[in-house]
Amino acid sequence: MKILMASSEAHPYAKTGGLADMVSALSITLAKLGHEVRIAIPRYYGIDRDSLAPLEGAMGVPVGGGEEWCAVYTADLPGSPPKNPVRVCFIDHEKFFGRDGIYGNPWEPDFLDNPRRFSFFSRAVFQLCRKTGWFPDLLHSHDWPSALVNVYLKFWERPLGERGEFAKTASVLTVHNLGYQGVYGKDNYGCTGLGWDVFYNAGFEDWDMMNILKAGLYSADKLSTVSPHYAEETKTQAQGFHLDGVLRYRSADYSGILNGIDTAVWNPAKDAYIPLKYGISNLAEGKARAKKALQKEFGLPLSAEVPVIGMVTRLTGQKGVGELFGPGYGSAWAICRDMKIQLVLLGSGEPWCENEVQSLASRLPNFRCRIGYREDLSHLVEAGSDFFLMPSRYEPCGLNQMYSLAYGTPPIVRNTGGLADTVENYNQETGEGTGFMFDDLSPQAISDTVGWAVWAWYNQRPRIEAMRVAGMKKDFSWEKSAKKYVELYQSCLR
Ligand code: ADP
Ligand code: GLC
Repeated sequence: MKILMASSEAHPYAKTGGLADMVSALSITLAKLGHEVRIAIPRYYGIDRDSLAPLEGAMGVPVGGGEEWCAVYTADLPGSPPKNPVRVCFIDHEKFFGRDGIYGNPWEPDFLDNPRRFSFFSRAVFQLCRKTGWFPDLLHSHDWPSALVNVYLKFWERPLGERGEFAKTASVLTVHNLGYQGVYGKDNYGCTGLGWDVFYNAGFEDWDMMNILKAGLYSADKLSTVSPHYAEETKTQAQGFHLDGVLRYRSADYSGILNGIDTAVWNPAKDAYIPLKYGISNLAEGKARAKKALQKEFGLPLSAEVPVIGMVTRLTGQKGVGELFGPGYGSAWAICRDMKIQLVLLGSGEPWCENEVQSLASRLPNFRCRIGYREDLSHLVEAGSDFFLMPSRYEPCGLNQMYSLAYGTPPIVRNTGGLADTVENYNQETGEGTGFMFDDLSPQAISDTVGWAVWAWYNQRPRIEAMRVAGMKKDFSWEKSAKKYVELYQSCLR
């Protein structure tokens, strides 16, 4: 099958979160299964052109009533099978992507021209196929920035009928996070170049605004999200971000497929960012060395006895940081003050939270943070911590808890979304389980559950050791999930 992924992020080129990991790892696994896979992403300013190969000639892309010209670069995705590499195509356009930031920057968190930037990108995906003479059987887009691909396919390309190159192309849209929908004023609609009939027929209309994800959800042949649990949650009013009705309407075509993890990148037996590579056989030594390195890196006392609780996270409401760090009511202060633990955090995100976390770290001797994005450190936190904390408000899949399971670091998580599908709660009677879970999203529930894990650490250490091993034995490799995507693709081939 020929599959074209259209995405705003792909590891290692552009990443703000798990979307980038998922797109690249899924593509690589599909290529290993023998499919021909390409990825289209924008050539952001941070992606060095010198490492890419240019395609000859400029490419014209219709935008609104006019046309924009861009260049295309390509590269083979690192980690893809040499005999069948995933080809990444970079859409290079100075005005739209020649700036720092993928969706925004600290001063302009959501670039004002995002509807125009991503309309352009979505149209460019089709022009790219024409330019290269390569037409996919399946177009797979991800989240709102590439959701317009589904709309253009259904309302622009397919109506051309048999003489159009995309008459036989099917489409899948994957929701990685329903909290971001690409909602803009209707006055932006002109940049899509679509008529007002399509505005209503494709379901753009949303309380008199233009909702890009919603139109994608109406237009794609099949829909998926990144865990079975989240697929169910998003059909409820509580977690549906007011698109639950659309998802219920499309429920026959909507399923949840759990993400895997890239075991070439996230594997303690191969990880170059940790002091000693380890597996189950040398787990104790590997973890001890990583813990020491982590404590040293964060300037904490080098104690083997005190458990380290680690976090790697975007600092946004989705991740439960309000309940954990909210000034005056969050539970982090009480956890650090009352429990014999060390807490380390690597993250970046909302300014209030970055400030609060830094202020807490200056007042608590056992809390250390690093604000910023550090790939190497994220591996060390996963390996060197004794527990990994993820108190998410909602979590479509979550990769970090799977990474921590693979690294023998039991996660402490809220029972929601993909966390519920991947972590098994500790059973104090039998000793079974891979982590610690709570239901309520409240500061009290977070600190109670952290307290439970810490109690088990000091009183039932052999149980914790067994829990580490149980987590490491879980299979989160991509093969299983990629095969489910292939089934999904096959179900909509035209
Ligand atoms: P989300 O995509 O919602 O942020 P996931 O758990 O799916 O959550 O994926 C987060 C990814 O981003 C992981 O690969 C994680 O290691 C990475 N990550 C998040 N914040 C940072 C950071 N500050 N530094 C390094 N990596 C980070
Ligand atoms: C989103 C979600 C996260 C998921 C990731 C990859 O960023 O917030 O839960 O793991 O996408 O699908």
